[in-house]
Amino acid sequence: MKQISVIGLGYVGLTTATCFADLGNTVVGVDIDERKVSGLLQGKLPIYEPGLEEMVRRNVAAGRLQFTTDFDRAVGQSEFVFIAVGTPSGADGEADLRYVRAAAEQIAHSLKGPAIIINKSTVPIGTGDLVTTIIRRTNPHAQFAVVSNPEFLREGSAIADFMNPDRVVLGAEDHEAAQRVAELHKPLAAPVIITDTRTAEMIKYASNAFLATRISFINEIAVICDELGADVKEVARGMGLDKRIGSAFLDAGVGYGGSCFPKDVQALAHMAAIHGRHPQLLHAVMEINRSQRRLVVLRLRDILGTLDGKTIALLGLSFKPQTDDTREAPALEIAHLLHLEGAKLRVFDPLSMDLARPHLPPDTVYAHDPYDAATGADALVVVTEWNEFKQLDLHQLKAVMGRPVIIDGRNIYDPREMRREGFIYYGIGRGRPRVPHDPNGLVAAGALGL
Ligand SMILES: NC(=O)c1ccc[n+]([C@@H]2O[C@H](COP(=O)([O-])OP(=O)(O)OC[C@H]3O[C@@H](n4cnc5c(N)ncnc54)[C@H](O)[C@@H]3O)[C@@H](O)[C@H]2O)c1
Repeated sequence: MKQISVIGLGYVGLTTATCFADLGNTVVGVDIDERKVSGLLQGKLPIYEPGLEEMVRRNVAAGRLQFTTDFDRAVGQSEFVFIAVGTPSGADGEADLRYVRAAAEQIAHSLKGPAIIINKSTVPIGTGDLVTTIIRRTNPHAQFAVVSNPEFLREGSAIADFMNPDRVVLGAEDHEAAQRVAELHKPLAAPVIITDTRTAEMIKYASNAFLATRISFINEIAVICDELGADVKEVARGMGLDKRIGSAFLDAGVGYGGSCFPKDVQALAHMAAIHGRHPQLLHAVMEINRSQRRLVVLRLRDILGTLDGKTIALLGLSFKPQTDDTREAPALEIAHLLHLEGAKLRVFDPLSMDLARPHLPPDTVYAHDPYDAATGADALVVVTEWNEFKQLDLHQLKAVMGRPVIIDGRNIYDPREMRREGFIYYGIGRGRPRVPHDPNGLVAAGALGL
């Protein structure tokens, strides 16, 4: 049993605190957000993550997990202090380190005995040194070592990812400190890589940039498939069975979103640029990702002509299924692009309606289920591949829609079945709709058989 504190109780911090408590350690989670902490003290989670609420309750009841806003209470007793605060994008795409700096200062003030400070936040290369400098400057008597331990968990499967990681990466100049953190992770039985701090920090950025690159790659292939009449889903399957390639992150769609890929690719490109490098591939990855959002609007225009006054239903607002997180969610960007075209929006998401509301156009209609969202709509766009959207009653859907037009932004439907059911269906990279273009922007409804 170890004494651990975790600074920052978001998706990563709350999962880390709870999982380490579940492994038998005594953990205190700290956050500066009083509402978040008081909610947690009443058993209310600030986020949705499958299985986490029950795990928090169980570990709080067992006395292994506590929450506070008091740094002294948390950090003062700890051998291990994890930093898991946010590192959002700054104005120029750089990682904004204000929360990491503040956390380092607060830790420095509260340190009593010797402790290992472990940085789990995704931070620019060199931040380990920055944290060391801040703590040393703020508390010259502190006895501490700093270890970088980038986190690779995915929202929606955070507990399983934390408990069964593919690898644990530890970066430190103090090898003994890294060994002690490795020991803390021993129950996870995962391969441990111990390296220097900067390399560990880079492993995280390079991993996320690579995964984002795979997504943009297949999206570029999808756009070419559309023009040439090939089906990108079959192409990806054919590619993915090659062991050298693998099938993960080869799903064409409206592009990546979320709190990590967009900001991390941008931050890596920024780091390269300020060191005089031009990261061409990273820029292409970001540009392709932006294009995928616009593609939805272009396809809707192809089919409906002008979007002014048209009603568009969006299914899914979170950036992916099994999470309520709407940070950098494709749905928000698509909603704004459609709003700019004059479209009226009806939206539905099983979890994220409240979180998305402040970021959506003011006249958006919030539906109570997918059919309600589709009612009277000129087109329906699937933006997030929630399971419950995969087997909708197509007859009911078609009956409630104003026009049977579906843009399947996640390729969850079978194009042949959808067309058989009488939908004007467009996936991503599965053939372009053959619709005569009307230069006046008035759609040839007759040409669509509507
Ligand atoms: N979300 C993910 O899937 C994921 C996965 C891997 C890595 N990461 C990285 O982990 C870090 C945290 O991400 P997140 O999604 O959990 O962020 P989040 O925004 O959900 O949570 C951050 C929390 O830190 C708190 N905080 C800010 N400053 C603080 C301070 N000085 N002291 C105490 N608490 C403070 C905030 O109130 C908030 O509750 C980021 O660097 C992110 O890139 C995230």
